[in-house]
Amino acid sequence: MQLRILVLPGDGIGPEVTREAVRVLRRVSERFGHQLVLEEGLIGGEAIRRTGSPLPEPTLQAALAADATLLGAVGLPEFDDAPPDRRPEKGLLGLRKALGVFANLRPVRAWPTLLEASPLKNERVAGTDLLIVRELTGGLYYGTPRGISGSGPEERGVNSMVYTRAEIERIAHVAFRLARGRRRKLASVDKSNVLEVSQLWRRVVNDVAAHYPDVELEHILVDNCAMQLILDPRRFDVVLTENMFGDILSDEAAVLAGSIGMLPSASIGHRRPSGAWTGLYEPVHGSAPDLAGQNRANPLGAVGSVAAMLEYGFGLKDEAAAVNRAIEAVLEKGVLTADLRPRGRPAQTSEVGEALIAEI
Ligand code: IPM
Ligand code: MG
Repeated sequence: MQLRILVLPGDGIGPEVTREAVRVLRRVSERFGHQLVLEEGLIGGEAIRRTGSPLPEPTLQAALAADATLLGAVGLPEFDDAPPDRRPEKGLLGLRKALGVFANLRPVRAWPTLLEASPLKNERVAGTDLLIVRELTGGLYYGTPRGISGSGPEERGVNSMVYTRAEIERIAHVAFRLARGRRRKLASVDKSNVLEVSQLWRRVVNDVAAHYPDVELEHILVDNCAMQLILDPRRFDVVLTENMFGDILSDEAAVLAGSIGMLPSASIGHRRPSGAWTGLYEPVHGSAPDLAGQNRANPLGAVGSVAAMLEYGFGLKDEAAAVNRAIEAVLEKGVLTADLRPRGRPAQTSEVGEALIAEI
């Protein structure tokens, strides 16, 4: 099979984790006889520096033409005070919207070998295996009106959490279908005791639930969900949530996995005529500028995103399984970066990459 993939390393630790992810991708392609066609592009702060835009037109066109896009991270402190259109994050948000990847899947597993890496009690975390389905192209991130206006004490900042029935329906269907392939439990997260948009969300999710009588649905308020994730994470299977809640809850859930460096994600949209997803694959972690360029970052979130790409983007289940098995083997061997609090000397980013390749 031919795999045409756009690689967008981005900012901070993005390039170094992406480098290892690409090495793993090359190895798997070789092993399983696929033809890899890689192209590289600019996004985020690095793109602003070189072109003035966080999402240059050639990057956008290449992403639309590729079978899948693998992204590192965006964000640099030097742009903290930049206007909204010249912020690195704007590039990523623009790309997600342009690709129409409305469903962001963020699996969270407590790896048996990493229980000590989590600050939570082992017995509480052990066995956690959940999937956050985060709506990715609507809600507070994109709603209008938005902006800052006025001056003095009347200066106003506005953002709007907006969802249409159609947007809620399509993400709910994705979540219910995924729950069917797992433990058939779905927790839909909202703030319906306060927000109208959440009241609509809950109503529409209930309507969609009628198509999935075999999936057990619970509604949970976002504040309670934040607490339950720590108190009793095993109660969760699929967690369905709007964009902003999902952003927050997924960083919190990373504590269950031992480190945010472990979490991969897949952002998917509609099927193309070829049957493939238009997908964007990126680790959940950010650009971690303080770690950048030191060969210390954990590449497993990026590598896990490659596995997700193989599985969801290309339907290559064996190849995805080979990558996931390699991750497991490397963890078992104790080849761990500093974030995973290894007993001995922490492994470098590139050492983890080499160990993975040796397993595939
Ligand atoms: C994430 C990140 C992004 C988001 C940022 C970098 C725009 O935090 O993917 O979770 O908020 O979606
Ligand atoms: Mg985030």
